[in-house]
Amino acid sequence: MTSAADVEMRALDAPDDLEQLTALFAGVFGDPVPNVVDMRGSLLAGGVCMGASIGDRLVGGLWSFAGWNEHGPFHHSHTLCVDPEFQGRGIGASLKRYHARWCRDSGIDRIVWTFDPLMVGNARFNLNRLGAVGDRWIENCYGSMPGKLDPASRTGEDAPSDRLSVTWDLTGSPAMATGPPTLVDIPPTGEASDLIPVHEAVLRLRDRLRPLIDGGAIVTGVELRPGGWAYRVVDPARE
Ligand SMILES: CC(C)(COP(=O)(O)OP(=O)(O)OC[C@H]1O[C@@H](n2cnc3c(N)ncnc32)[C@H](O)[C@@H]1OP(=O)(O)O)[C@@H](O)C(=O)NCCC(=O)NCCS
Repeated sequence: MTSAADVEMRALDAPDDLEQLTALFAGVFGDPVPNVVDMRGSLLAGGVCMGASIGDRLVGGLWSFAGWNEHGPFHHSHTLCVDPEFQGRGIGASLKRYHARWCRDSGIDRIVWTFDPLMVGNARFNLNRLGAVGDRWIENCYGSMPGKLDPASRTGEDAPSDRLSVTWDLTGSPAMATGPPTLVDIPPTGEASDLIPVHEAVLRLRDRLRPLIDGGAIVTGVELRPGGWAYRVVDPARE
């Protein structure tokens, strides 16, 4: 069993290292794969690539680039993965924390990224494990997704690629809520015939969750209820 001490984290910069990173991304996500030229270009403009290695083997990695919006500078963490053989051993969370330290050292106190809100495992990782908060709904973010993890392409369907965008506050200030949470069920999707078609699941979740987020609510976690997983949505306390 791997221990944390066996895993080395470092920023990746050399084209050969970035080649290894694209190979890891390709193995986990399938198409489309970020390419070395685009990643290298982003490093010249405040971006970063990071890898987690065990010995000579790259077992996890991320690509993130610099962004700016009305709240100031942030990092957009575009791609993160861990080799399936090593998933569930804390490597993904360690990479994220390593990236967070790098951002804080660079004067950046927010990391933003998107994920497929139908994927409960990713929701647990992003919201429950890391403490990021969902604060923006993006309809059909990437168009039709051919990636092998995408619920629609796994079932051979075509569905809009709606994404929940999360913000990870690196200043350590917890999200404060007013009032009790609203729970929004996550429609189950998959390959079994009794599950909901992905297209329908996307629209159902969009119809429930998007108006709450557009109205200023934030998504602070997922919880398991008798009927399945649900998002916990709260109104943030305002100053
Ligand atoms: C999502 C991912 C980066 C997490 O990294 P990891 O090293 O497997 O996860 P960690 O061990 O640090 O954290 C475990 C948590 O992540 C969740 N998780 C999500 N996907 C998982 C997976 N495929 N395997 C194991 N845990 C997973 C678990 O539910 C667990 O939370 P829990 O304690 O509430 O059960 C990794 O599983 C992965 O590469 N998945 C495929 C690519 C992907 O979806 N990337 C996008 C991430 S937003």
